[in-house]
Amino acid sequence: MSLKPFNSINVNGKRVLVRVDFNVPIEQKKILDDFRIQQTLPTIKLLKEKGAKKIILISHLGRPSKRDEKLSLELIAEYLEKLINEKIYFLKAPIGKKLLEEIENIPDNSIILLENIRFYKEEEGNNRNFAKELAKTADCFINEAFSVSHRKTASLCAITEFLPSYLGKLLEKEIANLDKVLEKPEKPLVIILGGAKTKDKLPLVEKFLEKADYILLGGVIANTILKANGFSIGQSLFEKEVINEAKEIGSKKAQIVLPGDFVVLNKENKKQIKELGLIDNDESIFDIGPTTINSFSGIISKARTVFFNGPMGKFEDIRFSKGTNEITKAILKNKKAFSVIGGGETITSFKDLSFKSKVSDSIFLSTGGGAMLEYLANKSLPGLATIKNIS
Ligand code: 3PG
Repeated sequence: MSLKPFNSINVNGKRVLVRVDFNVPIEQKKILDDFRIQQTLPTIKLLKEKGAKKIILISHLGRPSKRDEKLSLELIAEYLEKLINEKIYFLKAPIGKKLLEEIENIPDNSIILLENIRFYKEEEGNNRNFAKELAKTADCFINEAFSVSHRKTASLCAITEFLPSYLGKLLEKEIANLDKVLEKPEKPLVIILGGAKTKDKLPLVEKFLEKADYILLGGVIANTILKANGFSIGQSLFEKEVINEAKEIGSKKAQIVLPGDFVVLNKENKKQIKELGLIDNDESIFDIGPTTINSFSGIISKARTVFFNGPMGKFEDIRFSKGTNEITKAILKNKKAFSVIGGGETITSFKDLSFKSKVSDSIFLSTGGGAMLEYLANKSLPGLATIKNIS
């Protein structure tokens, strides 16, 4: 069944419920990276242009399961208001009759943001009755939250039972670009994985063993595979839980390239470059070393398709940002490749270097972290599958 393209949806005179992902990093009431918010603006503008009667945005922030003022979306409402220079009606009323009345009283053609949907425990349980109540606020539903579509929750899945449901503009773009990596990618295909969440990334390594020409690994995932294969990683972080899977992957080495040198700190906080096999017991790995940077960059320079998720080291500490920055530079330099870069931390690392402004048409920055990995591993997500059923 083919899905209705976003551009052909008729929203004229309709109340449109839009699930977005405004789960952005916030510190001391300051939004540290607004990439996800920015990426939803074209959709909001388009819905306005198409004459939507009311645009009702829903999002989560953090992982509360009950009301928690620290995770209120009020701050995001204020931010969005400044960003688009238009009043955002922020409604705190609980999902139900009072909320419906409040929505009714808001002028047509307005933008509304509801309070954090994870303040309701029913959200995580994919509760049908809760979704039915939420559905009363609107005439149709749009999933514009690719980055949380791997979660089977009420505002993504159960809701589609009660409203005509569509995929959003950004979501279409995310899928189209990830499909370019999955289906007949131009070769050589180079997959670069770093960061933590080894458990989520190992299935992807397994999947791309068949397809990729090279799989370059850094961060905790590399540490875990090295440890599983008997190399000393000193006190470095690794994921014990998946050590057996990591050992198996390590033995299928053909296309897997692990770092050969590292930036380490010892217990006196002395920074050194150490080769694999020479890491002492009191040392911890914090970044890939210069030889690894060179060899990874060389491989990237010949790629025609690149997928990059997860930093090579503890990039947020300037002493260990070089590995991630140099890999990013190598990707940006290769103008012949189509590249997809994603994952919360990876995109945040871009910000400090104002790389986002250097991104060209051949580079796609994904809003997804876990969702992107799951989509690449399974080519489906719970939040997408339900839309397919109803369209
Ligand atoms: C994310 O930040 O990856 C998404 O918003 C999903 O958040 P979650 O991992 O808390 O479900």
